[in-house]
Amino acid sequence: EKGGFEHFMLKEIFEQPRSIADSMRGRVRAEEEHLQLGGLRDYLGQLAASERVVIVGCGTSWHAGLVAEYIFEELARIPVEVEYASEFRYRNPIIKERDVVIAISQSGETADTLAAIELAKSKGATIFGVCNVVGSSIARTAHAGAYTHAGPEIGVASTKAFTAQVTVLTLMALSAAQQKGTISNTVFRQLLAELERIPALVEKVLRDAQKVKEIAYIFTYARNFIYLGRGLNFPVALEGALKLKEISYIHAEGYPAAEMKHGPIALIDEDMPVVVIATKDSSYEKVVSNIQEIKARKGRVIAVVTEGDSHIREMVDFVIEIPNVHEMLMPLISVIPLQLLSYYIAVMRGRNVDQPRNLAKSVTVE
Ligand code: F6R
Repeated sequence: EKGGFEHFMLKEIFEQPRSIADSMRGRVRAEEEHLQLGGLRDYLGQLAASERVVIVGCGTSWHAGLVAEYIFEELARIPVEVEYASEFRYRNPIIKERDVVIAISQSGETADTLAAIELAKSKGATIFGVCNVVGSSIARTAHAGAYTHAGPEIGVASTKAFTAQVTVLTLMALSAAQQKGTISNTVFRQLLAELERIPALVEKVLRDAQKVKEIAYIFTYARNFIYLGRGLNFPVALEGALKLKEISYIHAEGYPAAEMKHGPIALIDEDMPVVVIATKDSSYEKVVSNIQEIKARKGRVIAVVTEGDSHIREMVDFVIEIPNVHEMLMPLISVIPLQLLSYYIAVMRGRNVDQPRNLAKSVTVE
């Protein structure tokens, strides 16, 4: 059932070329410039006309929401707020009838997320669900939605569900942008074409898993880790840190790279590994300066870079190269080496990767 893999988590990491493709199947046909999410059809106008989108979720699903915030705001020009479901529901949130709430949940059963959308629904908001489990409570409570077609996720640490969520949310943002007219035909076409290439690019990253394993070996006994990224790679940094914490039990924190100088840089010394996502995008130069700040304090830097980047290679301790893709889609690629890094470190530490201590696959308690 693990398909020859040692753990479900590794199998699920390697399934991502397929689960991402499945989440686009029938929805995207780039050469015909076709994009349609069946489950949104009757509600697309409402999404495009909404004054505000509130995204709720927990854990990894909340991270997918943070990625979606950048994409929705950039492409569809709709203001987005991303909330932890557990915070949103307990503070008398301001919800108006023209608001759209998007609930993201792999299991579709997370108690806080379910309660958050019931609250928003009672105040008149329209609820969209982005769930992986068909017929789950959140999927049934939502007015409309789009399933992620990741297939069953058994490993407690979410991997393929995350990339499927980001894929579907990107399709939602693109649909809303097209409906609103906030995206040019050229960019729309380009993004659809790049989306279709994602499965092959993920495949390419997975072929370099051995390289990540070698780095994992070197850092197996680290006591702390810091993950940094900017823009769309900031939520990826949070996700990388969460993956490491939950399965290896190493303390890890994710930060927006520019926040370092406001406190966390005090933690940097020769014992602190820092994973920096430094792909060639609009914040590249800024991230390069952040790497210099860390190296000046003797931190050990593992940089995830765009292939062919020789500049960063000279500055850091280790590089992991990933293929280039449109900035809006980069999280789908840049998260892959971080999933692998946490997996290999946890295995080398002898952890129960698929069932880490204290965690459950679906959190139905509040
Ligand atoms: C992390 C993880 C959890 C879940 C969170 C939400 O790897 O699995 O953080 O993402 O419990 O679960 P869902 O998406 O089922 O609502």
